Amino acid sequence: MTTNAEIAERGKKVLVPNYAPQPISIVRGEGCWLFDAEGRRYLDLMGGIATATLGHAHPKLRAALEAQAALLWHVSNLFTTEPQIRLAERLTACCFAEAIFFCNSGAEANEAALKLARKWHRDQGEDRFEIIAFENAFHGRTLFTVSATGTPAYWKGFEPMVPGIYHAKYNDLESVEALTSPRTAAILVEPIQGEGGIRTPDRGFLAGLRRLADQNGCLLLFDEVQTGMGRTGTMFAHQQEGVVPDVMTLAKALGGGIPIGAMCTTRKLASALVPGTHASTFGGNPLACAVAAAVVDELLEGGVLDHAKAMGERLGDGLDAIAAALGPDKVLASRGRGLLRGLALVKPVAGIVDACRARGLLVISAGGNVLRMAPPLVIAPEEIDHGLAILREVIAELG
Ligand SMILES: Cc1ncc(COP(=O)(O)O)c(C=O)c1O
Repeated sequence: MTTNAEIAERGKKVLVPNYAPQPISIVRGEGCWLFDAEGRRYLDLMGGIATATLGHAHPKLRAALEAQAALLWHVSNLFTTEPQIRLAERLTACCFAEAIFFCNSGAEANEAALKLARKWHRDQGEDRFEIIAFENAFHGRTLFTVSATGTPAYWKGFEPMVPGIYHAKYNDLESVEALTSPRTAAILVEPIQGEGGIRTPDRGFLAGLRRLADQNGCLLLFDEVQTGMGRTGTMFAHQQEGVVPDVMTLAKALGGGIPIGAMCTTRKLASALVPGTHASTFGGNPLACAVAAAVVDELLEGGVLDHAKAMGERLGDGLDAIAAALGPDKVLASRGRGLLRGLALVKPVAGIVDACRARGLLVISAGGNVLRMAPPLVIAPEEIDHGLAILREVIAELG
């Protein structure tokens, strides 16, 4: 048997050391369970960082992938391919968007949104190029998106950052207003800050951003890379707020584990991206789009969205109960919506993540002291209860 340590050693010799992987190597997944190289199994409450929408090796996604694999893998956007249109039809049917640009990741989707904002205003003859983003936001690792990311630690060594990007305080409309100017091209915001610690918007905050954007004449961009596709109880998080953005970006859960990103916008704004202005070789790849279309079908027609809403409430209630039972000496807050949840702890969470893994439970951190949970949306009630029992035990001991 190859051990976890042997695989890790091989990786150290040939991979760029930009990750610090946990000391297990996952070789197989089934539903909400993952299995390491030594045959140990783990309940997956992190879902590949909010990505394994329907769990691992879902039969309908496998069928969609295998059917498309037998037909066509890749021809580029020099040709029209039907799976891309199929997916765009499904996405436009369930939100404000009328036109979709496909790419391969969340960073690329945000890059496209930011470029669209600048291009749209330039086409109107306006000199608007500034972006207002938020402290603690996370938007990706390309130079433009990492510049928009509101955590200076991610900029270190890569300066100078893209100019004209300012960071307001999340949930503070006055700080946004203070940064608006006739040069503002867009406000970019996560409807719930994920990496930044599962911070939810105060009532009226997103509506206030819409108002400020309209008053200023700039665009409102919602980064739903982590919150989209049923993660927070509705198909898209902004649909709980009664606010419609000009652009929404998706990735992660859209493909259920296959790499894909999307920038979703109105037909009017999309008109700024004429042929030659923006592109991606792999964007809209038939394999990725066929799988993502099956993800959307399963969410809407397979009843997964309704199930996820109920499971989100169960997980949230369970985490609230842990916070109440262990008290403010250990747990500062239980936050989040649907199946995107966080427990803010008093101590840094790294030791707790390790202890949970040792007991067969996978969770991750968000910021230094928040334990994040973003399990597959198909998680069963007894799996949630199993995870909560381990968490409670570990936090009581080490928190
Ligand atoms: C809100 C948000 N936007 C963008 C990204 C970047 O996505 P990717 O890693 O696919 O480039 C992430 C990744 O965690 C994210 O959470």
